[in-house]
Amino acid sequence: MGRRIVSKVQLGNGLVIDGENLNWYKPVGDSPLVFIAGMFSGGALNAVDVRGKIVACQRKEDPIMLAEMIQKAGGAGMISWSGPKRGAATTPVDNLSIAASRVTHADGEKIIAYINSTPNPTAALRFAGAQLNRASLPAIAEYSSRGPCNMSNVGVLKPDITGPGSVIAASIPGGANDTAPTRTFGLHSGTSMSTPHLSGIVAVIKKARPQWSPAAIKSALMTTADVTHPDGTPIVDETTGRPSCFAMGAGLVNPTRALDPGLVYDLAPADYIPYVCGLGYNESVINEIIAQPLQNVSCVTAGKIQGKDLNYPSIMVTLTPAAPETVVKRTATNVGEPVSVYSVEVIPPEGVAVEVVPNVLNFGQMRQKMEFTVKLTRGPNAAANGTAEGSLRWISGKRSVRSQIAVLFEALPN
Ligand SMILES: *[C@@H]1O[C@H](CO)[C@@H](O)[C@H](O)[C@H]1NC(C)=O
Ligand SMILES: *[C@@H]1O[C@H](CO)[C@@H](O)[C@H](O)[C@H]1NC(C)=O
Ligand SMILES: *[C@@H]1O[C@H](CO)[C@@H](O)[C@H](O)[C@H]1NC(C)=O
Ligand SMILES: *[C@@H]1O[C@H](CO)[C@@H](O)[C@H](O)[C@H]1NC(C)=O
Ligand SMILES: *[C@@H]1O[C@H](CO)[C@@H](O)[C@H](O)[C@H]1NC(C)=O
Ligand SMILES: *[C@@H]1O[C@H](CO)[C@@H](O)[C@H](O)[C@H]1NC(C)=O
Repeated sequence: MGRRIVSKVQLGNGLVIDGENLNWYKPVGDSPLVFIAGMFSGGALNAVDVRGKIVACQRKEDPIMLAEMIQKAGGAGMISWSGPKRGAATTPVDNLSIAASRVTHADGEKIIAYINSTPNPTAALRFAGAQLNRASLPAIAEYSSRGPCNMSNVGVLKPDITGPGSVIAASIPGGANDTAPTRTFGLHSGTSMSTPHLSGIVAVIKKARPQWSPAAIKSALMTTADVTHPDGTPIVDETTGRPSCFAMGAGLVNPTRALDPGLVYDLAPADYIPYVCGLGYNESVINEIIAQPLQNVSCVTAGKIQGKDLNYPSIMVTLTPAAPETVVKRTATNVGEPVSVYSVEVIPPEGVAVEVVPNVLNFGQMRQKMEFTVKLTRGPNAAANGTAEGSLRWISGKRSVRSQIAVLFEALPN
């Protein structure tokens, strides 16, 4: 979200570091500061007298447990940070039992350097509340699920899209159960918070565009999602500080733009049958997956397609040295203006050549469908393994219909 719940650390040398903490706490004035490197559950905390001190530590263990142990040992507060893999993350957790601040890994290193620089290191902690931070946020939260789906033949980029989900103020039904209605609002984080945002936006679009199928609505959400902040800088994964479609999917949902996507990649329920057949499930499983009134389908009749050819609003392919080239098919449906011309703009994934045919789509009426193909070729500069990402946009006037392109350079198990 475009805000942080700031908990300020002031070191004895005057350096002020903004970390995060979810709950208010009484300020802690200048206190001795000690760094404990080892595992608290392994006894590292017991080896140090932390009474009246602020304890700096790494988040190798559950922060709620770390805070409780410091509190029981008489500590005054906790400053914690994650390892380099989650280095930039400062997402706070609920209900820490002492004054605390979660800082970035880089700030944690500064704290260690300060502690090592003086015989009597000190720190103070002060809760500063919510602060807007539109420059670098939103970002993909550290706990958000990451793709890719680890089966090569699925052919669909996951996750699909990102919605607001961190530290969301939401109404809650009292306490843990209805007999304890002590709280009516709470701050929660997770998919349970972002899914209602997306579902609500879908409801708004369905009301405004009642003819659109679920797939058309999903396409509208995905092809209009934001991949940059308003100032043009990329939306990043907060753990790495870098953008990644395997963290963000198509981007951060933009409800206003989703109402007018220009083109959609539509799918009818029956279009999923050749896709599921192509994944290799047997017919009894397929008939369990597919609901009425389509039951008793036969893959012999329905046919099979490869995952990459599902008419999906994003593109994911696998390009190995043994199979360095593939062609993806898509069908765009015009939902913008009857007469409109779209030209393609591709940002190729690093090491991959992308060719779109045709590279202009001329529509003459609403609901008109036009097909195009995307040929992706692994070049000599492709990473030996790993992934690369790019994008394909159809542009007409102010409308831009963006598909994320994700490439896997090694085959995953099917
Ligand atoms: C918060 O922490 C206190 C003390 O550790 C505990 O008794 C309480 O159950 C916790 N509440 C929640 C919602 O986790
Ligand atoms: C793929 O993901 C599943 C589920 O998370 C996991 O059990 C499996 O080990 C993964 N396989 C590979 C090759 O990563
Ligand atoms: C509901 O919450 C109250 C207070 O926390 C607790 O005493 C009670 O056992 C809970 N009841 C159920 C059914 O969980
Ligand atoms: C279909 O696949 C499922 C899951 O792998 C398996 O349990 C079932 O026996 C299979 N059915 C047939 C008819 O092969
Ligand atoms: C599907 O086929 C089975 C076996 O032929 C039959 O018993 C069942 O009624 C059929 N179901 C539907 C929904 O047509
Ligand atoms: C990717 O390739 C490099 C260089 O060949 C190798 O060191 C690394 O282990 C590989 N990574 C994976 C995930 O296979």
